Amino acid sequence: MKELSSLNPYLAKYKYRILFGGIFIALSNWFGVFPAQIIRLAFDLVKDNLANYQLTKGFENQAILKSIIIQIALLFGALIILIAIIKGVFMFFMRQTIIVVSRLIEYDLKNVIYQKYQELSLSFYRINNTGDLMNRVSEDVSRVRMYIGPAIMYTLNLIVLFILVISTMISVNPMLTFYALLPLPLLFVAIYYVQNTINTKSEKIQAQLSILTTTVQETFSGIRIIKAFGREQQLADRFAADSEVYKTKSMELVKVQAIFFPTILGLIGISTLLTVYFGGKEVINGSITAGNIAEFIVYVNILTWPVASVGWVTSLVQRAAASQKRINEFLDLEPEITNPSTIPFEFTNSIEFKNVSFTYPETNITAIDQLSFTLTKGQTLAIVGKTGSGKSTISNLISRMIDVSSGSILIDNQDIKNINLNDWRNQIGIVPQEVFLFSDSIQNNITFGKDQFETADIHQAAQMAGVYDSIIAFPNGFETLLGERGITLSGGQKQRVSIARALIKKPGLLLFDDALSAVDTQTEENILSNLASTRKDATNILISHRISTLKNADMILYLANGKVAEMGSHEALLANKGPYYELYQMQLLADTQKQE
Ligand SMILES: Nc1ncnc2c1ncn2[C@@H]1O[C@H](COP(=O)(O)OP(=O)(O)OP(=O)(O)O)[C@@H](O)[C@H]1O
Ligand SMILES: [Mg+2]
Repeated sequence: MKELSSLNPYLAKYKYRILFGGIFIALSNWFGVFPAQIIRLAFDLVKDNLANYQLTKGFENQAILKSIIIQIALLFGALIILIAIIKGVFMFFMRQTIIVVSRLIEYDLKNVIYQKYQELSLSFYRINNTGDLMNRVSEDVSRVRMYIGPAIMYTLNLIVLFILVISTMISVNPMLTFYALLPLPLLFVAIYYVQNTINTKSEKIQAQLSILTTTVQETFSGIRIIKAFGREQQLADRFAADSEVYKTKSMELVKVQAIFFPTILGLIGISTLLTVYFGGKEVINGSITAGNIAEFIVYVNILTWPVASVGWVTSLVQRAAASQKRINEFLDLEPEITNPSTIPFEFTNSIEFKNVSFTYPETNITAIDQLSFTLTKGQTLAIVGKTGSGKSTISNLISRMIDVSSGSILIDNQDIKNINLNDWRNQIGIVPQEVFLFSDSIQNNITFGKDQFETADIHQAAQMAGVYDSIIAFPNGFETLLGERGITLSGGQKQRVSIARALIKKPGLLLFDDALSAVDTQTEENILSNLASTRKDATNILISHRISTLKNADMILYLANGKVAEMGSHEALLANKGPYYELYQMQLLADTQKQE
């Protein structure tokens, strides 16, 4: 329960709305209870007049009495309708305040969680799956909302109602009150158990549903592979089996739900029976009137739903506490990498790796091992090496997506851990190995990293990335939508849009992680010569498998198992006749074979 106390600041934020909600609850309840007394009054009046009516049989004023009885009935009927309308109006306002508060808090919570998601480091995303992350924002938050809205509203409602109704009942007849309320605790316990069973069963159904959804999603995204390998039937069978489980579980839930209403109605019936039986005895004794019995039956009916809701609310609160616990656990997480400084930082000098090692904690793979090198501003560094040699890890270390395990990275002779991270990242234009484009227009994808830009900038960046001609060939040009609702770009086009996104920033440091792997050598040549002419004074890091990409770099680093195997200019490395030379010979041979 203490988990839910973390919601108190939010409740405090909306305290006036909640206060008004409470007042509306009290008012609507008062108008809900009041009619019972009118019914008693009407009942007794009609009964007395009916007795007189019988007595005046054959007399003139019998007709007058008849019209009086009818008038009483009509008047009281109208009164009850009027009161019901007033009650309805207050109920409307009660929902408008309390339920609205729950929605506002839901909105606040979602924003806080989303903010937190963006702060957390990559390691958090490596250990949590998307489904879980989505659940926290959707499922868990909506359960907490159910606590704030319905749970608070019904609890307040119940308290007010109990005070009003039971005090009135006791003032009429304590004995009858006791008998009328006797079945209610039973009702509470029964509902609580039924509701809990419903919850556990619903959760199982929910889990099964997410299995089904995942299967279907995977079918959609893997449809090409499924068709190409002719596995439609197997997947259909798997889906049918999963659906079967889902159906069985749903049927179990329906059975429990079917008990729900009969239980409530049965217990109300028992309560009414007890009231009539013991009430009847009291009437015979002369201690209460027949009207009182009618009044009591109304009370029992008024109390039934709120009491039933206690069982429901209890289970709502339990679930909300479990959800809030999950949310709290995650909000309490400290991001591993945070911005250490607000002092503006501008890259002016050099990037230096000093005995840097990095081990991935999840796999214990040492991707970078005692690596040292220095890159001066204005130079181009190329990194080449076999797959898995640690090239992308270097790129992640430089953009500080991960922190070194040992050694240090110095930017302008300051430890990367001490400089303003936002400023540093803003000065890097990164083209990641795995291209990611948003489901948005090409223009918005290119300008993603920039707040202010001119159309000319976009066109220039696209031209430098060698993708301008492809874009303007589309009917909608730069406005063309990508992704789910739009067109699919070819692998090479995607990669070049991703390059344009990095170039438009005119970054101090350009970082290509295998960014030319999906373009042909001619296009590669064009892009590289564009870079060479426009980024003469800027710093570049080019990671590649292809020597053609690297050969003009100021320095080439041949990486093997996270270590420097060789370092130097293209010519120096060729003269070395080491692994770089071998790679060069191999690629040269492959190229000549292609040409023949
Ligand atoms: N997120 C990760 N968790 C655990 N191990 C990882 C992770 N990313 C990379 N590795 C491991 O670290 C090593 C270096 O990977 P890295 O991605 O840096 O290689 P690379 O040189 O970029 O390879 P490629 O040329 O194929 O892109 C590999 O052995 C890889 O399995
Ligand atoms: Mg890589």
